[in-house]
Amino acid sequence: MLKVAVMVSGGGTNLQAIIDAIQSGIITDTQIVAVISNNADAYALERAKKAGIPAVCVSRKEIPDRETYDDALLAAVEASGADLVVLAGFLVVIPTKMIQAYRNRIINIHPSLIPSFCGTGYYGLKVHEGVLSKGVKVTGATVHFVDEGTDTGPIILQKAVEVKAGDTAEVLQRRVMEEAEWKLLPQAIQLIAHNKVQMVDGHAVVME
Ligand code: GRF
Repeated sequence: MLKVAVMVSGGGTNLQAIIDAIQSGIITDTQIVAVISNNADAYALERAKKAGIPAVCVSRKEIPDRETYDDALLAAVEASGADLVVLAGFLVVIPTKMIQAYRNRIINIHPSLIPSFCGTGYYGLKVHEGVLSKGVKVTGATVHFVDEGTDTGPIILQKAVEVKAGDTAEVLQRRVMEEAEWKLLPQAIQLIAHNKVQMVDGHAVVME
């Protein structure tokens, strides 16, 4: 049984996709043991509550010192007993000590085809605004392992999504979520739950 801790900051639609995928059997042999948020107002916490999943908020407002906060975040993950940490719209930089403790056991969903439109400053709607301003015709989403960089870890899965004439950033974000993010994250968790993702020469390789 793969134990998963999901870290969230906002609406939690990616968390919901994981919850639904477990309930529908798309994901098997997996349990969400905790939802951890930096934001007490995150609707994702409501989603966890409705699904009966233990949820905890580790708020920077209550722990202003950065190192103390980082220790509290790591402690919350360790206390959950999770084997895998899933960043699902989580907007806080993951502490180096946590990346080291969970090397290749933290995955993130990014709403573009990395290495395009990623890195510092590219999150949420800003990603799609960048896509539209550049005029690219294809975007998508990426699931990758988290390393010490920003959106730089080994890529596990990607899925392309068409940019349509007249798209606004909001419309495009929704399409990328529906057609890519909400499919890729459950798919990646299912693969990891069944040991089908291996690291080979620094790259994540999916074993079919
Ligand atoms: C979305 O922009 C998603 O692409 C990114 O985080 C944002 C919020 O996602 N990963 P969620 O609805 O909180 O899962």
